[in-house]
Formats: sequence, C-alpha cells, structure tokens
Amino acid sequence: MAKYSRVSESVGLITLQNPPVNALSAAVRQGIVDTVERALSDPKVKSVVICGQNGIFCGGADIKEFGTNMSGPLLVPMIHAIEAANKPVVAAIEGSALGGGLELALGCHYRIAHSKARLGLPEVTLGLLPAAGGTQRLPRLIGVPAALDLITTGKPLDARRISTYPCPRPSDLDALFEGVMEKVRQSARGAIAPVACVQAVRAAATQPYTQGMEREKELMATLFTSGQARALQYCFFAQRAVSRWSMPNGARWDTSKPRPVHKAAVIGLGTMGRGITVALAQTGLSVIAVETQEKQLMDAKQAVSGMLERGARRRGVAPALDKISYSHDIQAVADVDLVIEAVFEDMGLKKKVFQQLASICRPGTFLCTNTSALDVDHLASQTHNPELVVGMHFFAPAHVMKLLEVVYGPRSSPQAVATAMQLGKKMGKVSVAVGNCPGFVGNRMLKPYMEQAFFLLEEGATPELVDRALEEFGFPMGVFRMSDLSGLDVGWRVRKGDGLAEPGAPSGQPARIRQGRRYSPLGDLLCEQGRFGQKTGQGWYQYNKPGSQVARSDPWLHSFLEGYRAQHGLVARRIDNQEVLDRCLYALINEGFRILEDGIAAGPEDIDMIYVFGYGWPRHRGGPMFYASMVGLGKVLERLEHYHQAHPDVPYLKPCSLLWRLVASGSPPLHKWREVIRKLHSQL
Ligand code: NAI
Repeated sequence: MAKYSRVSESVGLITLQNPPVNALSAAVRQGIVDTVERALSDPKVKSVVICGQNGIFCGGADIKEFGTNMSGPLLVPMIHAIEAANKPVVAAIEGSALGGGLELALGCHYRIAHSKARLGLPEVTLGLLPAAGGTQRLPRLIGVPAALDLITTGKPLDARRISTYPCPRPSDLDALFEGVMEKVRQSARGAIAPVACVQAVRAAATQPYTQGMEREKELMATLFTSGQARALQYCFFAQRAVSRWSMPNGARWDTSKPRPVHKAAVIGLGTMGRGITVALAQTGLSVIAVETQEKQLMDAKQAVSGMLERGARRRGVAPALDKISYSHDIQAVADVDLVIEAVFEDMGLKKKVFQQLASICRPGTFLCTNTSALDVDHLASQTHNPELVVGMHFFAPAHVMKLLEVVYGPRSSPQAVATAMQLGKKMGKVSVAVGNCPGFVGNRMLKPYMEQAFFLLEEGATPELVDRALEEFGFPMGVFRMSDLSGLDVGWRVRKGDGLAEPGAPSGQPARIRQGRRYSPLGDLLCEQGRFGQKTGQGWYQYNKPGSQVARSDPWLHSFLEGYRAQHGLVARRIDNQEVLDRCLYALINEGFRILEDGIAAGPEDIDMIYVFGYGWPRHRGGPMFYASMVGLGKVLERLEHYHQAHPDVPYLKPCSLLWRLVASGSPPLHKWREVIRKLHSQL
C-alpha cells in the first residue's frame, strides 16, 4: 500500500501502491504514516521522496470509502505530520495529483511534477470542498486568484513553472471576492459548494492559517451533510453506471463486443447533421456528408468548416477539415462502417432513405437514425438487416451537447447497440441505451412537463411566473424561454401530425378537449399568429428583432391570455411557485416511473443522466428520479393524487402503478428500485 526503500544511501523513497490511481484508502494512509515515521527515525536518511507506482502520483480519496465510516488514519493530521517533518519531503508527481493527492503534495515541502502531470482539486464537482488543507495551502502557494479558479471550478491544470504563477494577495481583496462571489453564485444556479469554496479561500486570504483551517472544516461539515453533496456524488456514480447498459432481452455491455468504426456517413446537413459531422470529424473518423439541396450543401460546408476551425483554435490543434468529404449523391456512402441519418422528421422520407441505404451500403453497415420521436423499428423494417439498425439521438447543438440516447428496437442486435454506445463514448458523449417508444426517454417525459406549463397559463399563471419558478429551482431556462429558443413550430408540426392541432383535429369538438383528454391549444394559437419564438422575434416573450436572444415580457401576450380565459370561461387564480414545481416536475417524474415500468429505461440512473446532460436538470439535484427519492415517494404520490383529483381529465397526473408499488414497498432507496420493477414485471 506504501512501499519503503532507501535509495542513494540517504533518500527514503515512499511509493504509493493502490491500483489503478493509488487512491488514499485507509491502508494507503496507514502505509504513509508508517513509512514517513520510519524514514524520519532512520539517521541515515537525509531526505524523503513520495511518489506513486505505475506513473501516477495519486488520484485522491478512495471513492469506495464514500458514504462509509472512515477507518484508519485521518488525512489532515497525516499531512500535518509530513509538513512538520524535520527532513525535507518532496512530492515527485507523475501522471496525476488530484483531490487528496494534490493536498498530500501540498503538505510536502517541495513538489516536482512531470510536465505532462495533471493537478487539480475536483471536490467541488462532488458537492464538497478540498478539506485536507487544500483551500488553505493552495492560495498560500499560488495566490488567491489562481487558487480560486482551481478550487471553485474543480478543473485540473497541467504542471506549471512557479514563474508562471500569478502574484499572491491582490490589494483590492474585497472587490475581488465580491466580484467572484457574484459570478460564482450566478453560474452555480443554487449549488452551494462553489459558494462555500469562495468563503473558504476568503478565509485563507484574510485569516491566519489555523483559523482558516477551522473555517474550512466548518464549511465542509455543512456541505457534507447537505442533500446537494449526495446528489452530486450520485451523479458521479450514475454517469459511470449508464455505460454499463443492459437490454430487457438480457444483452449487456460486458457480453457484447462493439465493431470498430473508422468511416461514417451523415445524411442530411441541416441543424443536426452539421453538428454530428463536426463531432465525428473531431473524433478522428473519416466522414462522408450527404445533402441533396445544392444551397444547403454549400451553406453546410461553410458552417461545418467554421465550427471545426473555432473548435480547433480553442483546443490548440489543427482543424480536421480533411476528414470530411461532401456529396449530394447518397451513392457516396457505399463503403462506410456506419451511417447516421438526419433528414427532416418525416416518416415517409426517412423510410425512403433507409430503403436506399439498405441497397447501397455494403453488408454489415450499421444504419442509425437521429429521429427525435419516430419508430426506430419501423425504419429497421425497411432494410434487409433490421438487427443493424439503432437510433442515435443527439441533442442540439450536436457537437456541444453531451447527451446521446442510443435507441434499440426489438430487433436491434447487441453488437449494434454496443457499437453505437462505444462510438458515443469516443465522441465524448454520455451515451444512454434506451428502448423504442414515441419520444424515447427525454422527449417522452418532456411532454407532460410542457403540458402542465400550458395548463398553468390557462389557470392564471404567466410565462414569466412559470419560468421564474423553474429557473429558481436550477434549470438554466424555464419552459417558455426554452420553447422560444427551440421554436414553437417544432411542437406544432408534431401535434398536427398526431391529429391534435387544427386542421388535423376533427372539427366541431371543444377547443380544450382532444382525444378525450384536456388539451391546451395555446401553443397552436401562437403559431397561427406566426409567433414561432426567437426566430420570428415573438413567441411567449418578445425580442428586439428576429434571432435576438434577450427575452422581454410582452403585454400583447398577457392580454391575449386574458382574452383566451374570458372566451373559455376560465377564472384566473393565484398560482404560486410551489404549484408550478409540483405540477410540472411531478408530472414529468410520473412519466419517468412509467418509463421504468415499461422497461424503456433500465434504471433510474439512466433517466437522471438523460435529464442532467440533455435537458438542463440541475446536477446538484441529481436528476428527476433522484429528486423524487429525496422529496420522498410518498409525498410525490400524495401530490399527484391531489392534482389528479383536481384535474381528472389529465391522465399524466394519475400516479402510475410502479409509484404505488414502490410506496407500498416502503419507498426503498433508489438503488433497490430495480428489484421492485423486476417483481412487477414477473407478475405481469
Ligand atoms: P433540418 O430541417 O435542419 O435539416 C434536415 C436536412 O436534411 C435538410 O438540410 C434537408 O435538405 C436534408 N434532406 C432532406 N432529405 C434529404 C435526403 N433524401 N438526403 C439528404 N439530405 C436530405 O432538420 P434538423 O433539425 O437537423 O433535424 C434532423 C433530424 O434530427 C430530424 O429527424 C429531427 O427530428 C432530429 N432532431 C432534431 C433536433 C433539433 O433540435 N433540431 C434534436 C434532435 C433530433
């Protein structure tokens, strides 16, 4: 756990040994205490070097000890003892020194790092702060501004020469902290750990070391017991868990071998196709990009090159322009390993494209669709090899957004799923395997959420009120600002296709009932007025000009809502933030339980990661299903029942059977839900 040897007669060498990253487990900490003591008490030893085996200094705390009762020596006294040693102790850093690993190095008297070594304090990303002296020693070593940057963002940096460090302790300390605090509060969107980090560093800059350490300890104690730390640590594990996918037929990540993909094709170079092309080229794949419209093809070439050049500048590499060849002829994709179709969301068109692909591509080519809601299996049935077809559902902008839903149909092979999952990983995405149903996981859950927001407007709320409640909860944008950004016409087209919006809907039926359930035509009415959101300069808000992003309240919209209510005999009532959150979030969560019940998502972690990485769900609240478990499933059930009684014509508010079952089983913790789901399935 910590090997001791004497080199060159007088140097005590301590090598941390705990693969894969030499984490500071109880045994490693004990090893350090023992070997340091041994080195200090050996008169022949004049100096001590601490390093890690296998080219890694130390990855930090042992995550296996999270949430357990810590045993073994504590980190703070251990590091204090090293610092207090009467022989020089040097940290020899290779690979990485992260979290507790860097704090250990900070306790040494000197640090020598390989130029490729990565140093960082990522605790804040887990809802914590570096509490083994990290917030106290680092500002003393590299100065307050640089330490603030490292500690509040958790981002690692490469080893640097001391001459490049900024000068410590600026004169305008108060102004500096006020400015940083304001910025951190804004970007934290309600997360408390970054704010506590600033407070701890302020203590370092304004108080003596011992008092600073006290403050660090106190702040850490608050964070440690906060729900936010639990949520962020849950996300850390959930993100890893979703890569270990499984399908209801028993296929799994560890028994399915992906096929390598070197050459891919993208069909359709609109909003999505362009982003996907960029993401593939940046991953190092050769890409054939196909677009039938001549003008679109020219525009796409320019846009893709621009995105690649900007990305390359940021990362200090050469742009991967030569990785892409463009064509207006679909025949060009004959020899690729995998195709991603991103043409218009039109089943007729997509079916035709899949039939063409099936006859053009060489045998064994994986055929993927980026559809946001259409039936993947129906597309698979257009080909000779439906087992090679999966959905690869990217999110806009596709070269930026981290989420990828990999959608398997009933006939998709485990190898096709494994290949899409691996390609997603190579592209730096958080890939989540989900089953085939309208809207898959993310968009399916969004429907009841948006529906509730529309109903709230009918009942007396304004877009501003609903958005404010959701933004205070931690979403970067409320539902109406988001709708203005992505375009109201997108949903309108879908509702028309589903026979909900006029003129698809049968005439003569009440405006607010469709297919036997409550319906709000508000979005359709706005679209009929040409109010599509930001792109037309008007939607739920008004904008200075089309394309502008600064939303302003629109008096027209408010009087339109009043007129609408009067026309339908609706009396506006006062709606508070709590009702907005209850109705929007619990309707969404209820659909999440239905998705688990239907086996569309393998577990709650999959749903949560989709919402955190694709829909702006605040990470410090852990995702919708984790949030439900924190609120208490009994409470979620009771609120849904309450609202369903008040709105019996809204099926999305009817608590689903899995939620009843979980509450009846004593609301088990989230990691036990799979057992209850399995039992439910075995009884069906
Ligand atoms: P878009 O309208 O921007 O682009 C579609 C492109 O496909 C157009 O450039 C069109 O000329 C081209 N095209 C049409 N038929 C073609 C054919 N036979 N061969 C080659 N190119 C053809 O559409 P967008 O927004 O990029 O959406 C594409 C797909 O991605 C849709 O299925 C959509 O549902 C899905 N999607 C869209 C998201 C979004 O936020 N826009 C998010 C996730 C998925």
